[in-house]
Amino acid sequence: MAVIEWKDIYETGIVALDKEHRGLVEEINRLYEAVRDKRGEDVLEDILNMLTTYTVDHFQHEERLMAEYGFPGLEEHRKVHGELIEKVAAMKARAQEETGDLARELLKFLRVWVLEHIVDVDKRYGIFLESRGGRFIE
Ligand SMILES: [Fe+2]
Repeated sequence: MAVIEWKDIYETGIVALDKEHRGLVEEINRLYEAVRDKRGEDVLEDILNMLTTYTVDHFQHEERLMAEYGFPGLEEHRKVHGELIEKVAAMKARAQEETGDLARELLKFLRVWVLEHIVDVDKRYGIFLESRGGRFIE
């Protein structure tokens, strides 16, 4: 496992959303470095709080643009976002009670979830939104 290097394949084509995705990848890398240096538990709370804010702000941003331009896959996409919101809430609850290696577990989960979500699910709105609103819609 290593830090995630941003690749062109991760770009949805919508500049504002790509910027937010890059920010999220940076946070995952911050968690990675902490886990690697055996201080994962030190940043766990911080990362979970960031994720809570991120999932609200970023997901709302994506869903607002999808709604604004009439993207047909909106409901399906919203469900997938809901699953991550639940997962983060569950992790947060566990972090209050457990002293296990939650940071490592969160890291593994986020790496897979975020990259798969961006490449598989988010890219579906990319071409649609770009063709209707252009790359610079916010
Ligand atoms: Fe998404």
